[in-house]
Amino acid sequence: MCISTFVEFYIMNTINQIFFSPTETTKKIVNKIGNGIGFSQQFETDITLYKNNYNFKESDLVIIGAPVYAGRIPEVVIERISDLKGSNSLAVVVVVYGNREFDDALLELRDLATDKGFNVISAAAFIGEHSFSDSIYPIAADRPNEKDLELAFEYGEKIKSLINSGDIKNNISVDGNRPYKERKQAAAFSPITYKDRCSLCMKCVDLCPTNAIDKNNPLITEAQLCIKCAACVKTCPSNARVFENEYIKSVAKRLNSLCNIPKNPSIFI
Ligand SMILES: Cc1cc2nc3c(=O)[nH]c(=O)nc-3n(C[C@H](O)[C@H](O)[C@H](O)COP(=O)(O)O)c2cc1C
Ligand code: SF4
Ligand code: SF4
Repeated sequence: MCISTFVEFYIMNTINQIFFSPTETTKKIVNKIGNGIGFSQQFETDITLYKNNYNFKESDLVIIGAPVYAGRIPEVVIERISDLKGSNSLAVVVVVYGNREFDDALLELRDLATDKGFNVISAAAFIGEHSFSDSIYPIAADRPNEKDLELAFEYGEKIKSLINSGDIKNNISVDGNRPYKERKQAAAFSPITYKDRCSLCMKCVDLCPTNAIDKNNPLITEAQLCIKCAACVKTCPSNARVFENEYIKSVAKRLNSLCNIPKNPSIFI
């Protein structure tokens, strides 16, 4: 595809940032990449809580961002993007992972985008604080840090140069294997709410991506619906939401000791 003529370059001035991001690390990275690309119009579509159906034109540039869950793209993300449609629209796909591995998630997101009619011209895996990280077992705590955000901005600038030069690779290759890692059935548990600390502010209810927390009573969570995203745990202003589950604690302990060497972003361009 030639996109170097004046008319086509003029048309490509819009970036659509689409992301699922319960604890907002993916959002931060996608926003920074968008800033780096720097087109004058930037639209943000946060699909953490809702599904969206959009038809993109060939002249659109879309950034699609998702966290890595167990080496894969979370099923809820697949459902949220199921009605996105591209018309050979340019896409950048980005996964954010908690310093363990991104395994097959980036390849899966690339494949999903391709299947939906996008031409994936670049892809990247960045690092974000692990959802299970806490003060006892920190895992990639406070990432993305300043350096990560700088790299995300520079990555955006590179994408812009690529588009302006017209020298883009169609459907870029990325790391990962097919068949993808087997998806394990998650056990049914959720964070609990400590009644004595809860102020009934309902913040957790509003930001739970799967409506697992009872709308009238935040002390009740439907464990089957919980995807363990930790949004409620990390956002509760009273520290009333806690993962008391032994499995999560043991995973956090293991990751804290095994994944303590900070990784660098992987960029495919
Ligand atoms: C259920 C679950 C599974 C996860 N699996 C992985 C994983 O396989 N590898 C990894 O490095 N991080 C993993 N993480 C950590 C997230 O990918 C990481 O914290 C990410 O930054 C969260 O994105 P968000 O802030 O946009 O929600 C997992 C998190 C959750 C909740
Ligand atoms: S965010 Fe915390 S304090 Fe607010 S309702 Fe939920 S558990 Fe209670
Ligand atoms: S209840 Fe589960 S799905 Fe809902 S915000 Fe909390 S951890 Fe995420």
